[in-house]
Amino acid sequence: MKAAPRLVKPTLDHEPVIKVEGLIKDYIIPAPPTRRGLTSSLRAVFATRKAIRRALEGISFTVPSGQVLGFIGPNGAGKTTTIKLLTGILTPTAGTVRLLGFDPQRDRYRYTYHIGLVFGQRSLLWYDIPVIESLRLYADIYEIDRAALKRRLDWFSELLGIGEFLHVPVRKLSLGQRMRAEIAASLLHDPEVLFLDEPTLGLDAVAKERVRDFLRQVNREQGTTIILTTHDMTDIEALSDRVLIIDHGRLIYDGAVEPLKRLDDVRVIQAELATGADVAAVAASLGDLREYLAEPGSLTERGTAEPGTAEPGTAESGTGPPRLVLRVPRDRSVEAVGRLMAVADLADLSVQPPRLDAVIRRVYERGVGAG
Ligand SMILES: Nc1ncnc2c1ncn2[C@@H]1O[C@H](COP(=O)(O)OP(=O)(O)O)[C@@H](O)[C@H]1O
Ligand SMILES: [Mg+2]
Repeated sequence: MKAAPRLVKPTLDHEPVIKVEGLIKDYIIPAPPTRRGLTSSLRAVFATRKAIRRALEGISFTVPSGQVLGFIGPNGAGKTTTIKLLTGILTPTAGTVRLLGFDPQRDRYRYTYHIGLVFGQRSLLWYDIPVIESLRLYADIYEIDRAALKRRLDWFSELLGIGEFLHVPVRKLSLGQRMRAEIAASLLHDPEVLFLDEPTLGLDAVAKERVRDFLRQVNREQGTTIILTTHDMTDIEALSDRVLIIDHGRLIYDGAVEPLKRLDDVRVIQAELATGADVAAVAASLGDLREYLAEPGSLTERGTAEPGTAEPGTAESGTGPPRLVLRVPRDRSVEAVGRLMAVADLADLSVQPPRLDAVIRRVYERGVGAG
């Protein structure tokens, strides 16, 4: 089926769709109580003393029309805050946001017609009524006529499969179904820019893939600019033309996905050896794979590392089960697993991509390109 026709024609091709300059956001929070205990907690509730938490330290970027831009970063980095500032939900402490020439705060009413918004944590849909009723309400709000609504619904049914549960109340939907319905609601009025805050959070692999496929299609067929936040490097790899890494309210990377993927091109192999195994002997028989033994306590490992062990990447019995941790280039991970299985008696084995915080730390340490 052909893409549904646009309801609103963007005319600002010559300008970036989004322009952010020196964006700072402070949250005012109650000052932490000076003493522990109930009375001081109570005092804190009524306290006039306030503290400032700076969530964004002054970030700047522009987004050209039709780009898929992924924000990635650890919890508390400032991703949601950024989305809220871009969509006019929050007011900046300092700095400016222009989106399609609008000031999201001042022009909030007109602006709403041009953007779509999906918050993983907050619903556009009414909980107790069938999905179709929520969509009809939005169609009324956005003044979408019945014929146009039908075209949109056909399109969403085909690509998102929402036809199956249009008449089911939201509270009875699975998380994956709800997210598909949310995305349909956010795109009903065919906005030029779509914001999604953690759209794949909590979804299983199949549901994630479905959401990603659909977003790719929306971007390709309708030219919709997409800004999404995620914890999940796989979302970024599958979707983004460009990635911004945000950490402690600062942008620490702005660029293509490809160099990050190279930086991320290792696998973390954790091997738990059978009780009483001789870790040093196993390590010695790894040959040239020995150089990939991870440092103890390293963030590059999944799970907890044992600090203070003598041999890198190993843990002697007495500090838990004997373990070996290897960070190997991805193209040698199969070989490394084979070697481990041949030389050691294994109790458990896992192979994982590095954690996001490890990738971010490497961006700090080396910049991108050196990895
Ligand atoms: N309403 C709020 N009041 C006070 N502090 C907040 C509020 N919302 C977020 N923060 C703080 O701002 C920082 C950034 O949060 P957030 O934008 O939610 O990060 P992310 O979405 O990347 O996890 C965090 O330190 C968080 O605790
Ligand atoms: Mg968030």
